[in-house]
Amino acid sequence: MTRKRVFSGTRATGGLHLGNYLGAVKGYLELSNDPGYETIYMVMDLHAITTPFDKDKLAENTRNVVLDYLACGLDPEKSIITVQSLVPEHTYLAHILSAEISVARMQHLPTFKEKVAQHPDNVTMALLNYPVLMAADILLYKASLVPVGVDQEPHLEVAREIARKMNQKYGTDFPEPKRFATKGEYVPSLTGEGKMSKTVEGSFINLTDSLEMIKKKLSGAPTDSGKGDKVPEKGGVANLLQLVELFEGSDKRKTFESEYLGAGVRYDELKSDLAEAIYNELKPIQEQREKYKNNPVLVDKIIKEGAEKASQIAKQTIKEVKEEMGFI
Ligand code: TRP
Repeated sequence: MTRKRVFSGTRATGGLHLGNYLGAVKGYLELSNDPGYETIYMVMDLHAITTPFDKDKLAENTRNVVLDYLACGLDPEKSIITVQSLVPEHTYLAHILSAEISVARMQHLPTFKEKVAQHPDNVTMALLNYPVLMAADILLYKASLVPVGVDQEPHLEVAREIARKMNQKYGTDFPEPKRFATKGEYVPSLTGEGKMSKTVEGSFINLTDSLEMIKKKLSGAPTDSGKGDKVPEKGGVANLLQLVELFEGSDKRKTFESEYLGAGVRYDELKSDLAEAIYNELKPIQEQREKYKNNPVLVDKIIKEGAEKASQIAKQTIKEVKEEMGFI
C-alpha cells in the first residue's frame, strides 16, 4: 500500500513566528508522526523572490527556517526536509502548469490583490505566477494533504483546478490536494487587529525571542481601562485573552473575564504571566535550535539528502507529465 503524501512549506522571509508554529508547523509534526503519511517539508525560497527581497539575506533566511523546522522537532528520518530551489523540477512543472490557467484567474485572487496594494511598484510576473508555482510544489509530489493556514485556501483551490484540468486533458493522475487544518491555528496579532503576520510590524513573537523580548513586545499590545460590563470581542484585549487561552488555558481566561466584569484586570500582571507562559513553550525549541545552529555540517547534510530524495520523486513526475502531454 502506498502512503498518502503530505507537502507543505514556508516562504523564506526570515525566521518563524508563533503563528507559523501553532498554525502550521504543529500540523507538520502531527502528520510526520503518523505512519500513514509520507511528509515533505520545504523552505520556499523561489516564492521569497516574488516580493522585494535582500540578496545578502536570502541564504541566511532560508537556513533560519530550516533551523526552526528542526528546532520544532521535525525529523529528517521521518520527513523529507529541504529547500525548494535545490529541486529545479518545481519551476519546470510550474511552467507547464501555467499553460492551464488564465491570467484573469490569477489577477482576481485576494492574495495577489493584497500584494499589489503592499508593493505597487513590484507587480512582477513571478508574483502573478505565485499560485502556479505553489500548485507545482504540491502536484510535483502528487501530495493529497497540505497543512497550511486558512488564508492559503484560495491557492489550494487553484491547485485543485489545475490538477483536474491536467487529469482531464492529459490523463495524468494528480490527486486534488486538500488543506489539513491544525487545532489552535489562529494566533492573534499583538497589535489587536487580525492574526500574527511577518509583514505587520509589532504583530508577532519570533520562535527565537528571549523572555525580555516577549515582555517588551507584549507591553506594546493595546489594552483598555481593564473593566466594563462586557468583555471585548474584538481588538487588543480580545486578542490578549485569546493568547491567554492558547498558552495558559481556558480557566485562566475565565478568571480574567470575571475580573473584567468585576474589580478589573491588571494588565501588567496579565502580560507578565502570559510572557512567561509563551517563553516556557519556546524554551525547549530554542535549546534544540542552538544544537543545530552549532552543527552547520549536519544541517547542510540534512538539506542535501532531502533534496536528493525529493528529486527522485520530482523527476518521475516530470517524466510522466511530459509523456502524457506529447513532448519528444
Ligand atoms: N504560500 C504559502 C504561504 O505563504 C507557502 C507555500 C509555497 C506553500 N508553496 C507551498 C505552502 C506549497 C504549502 C504548499 O504560507
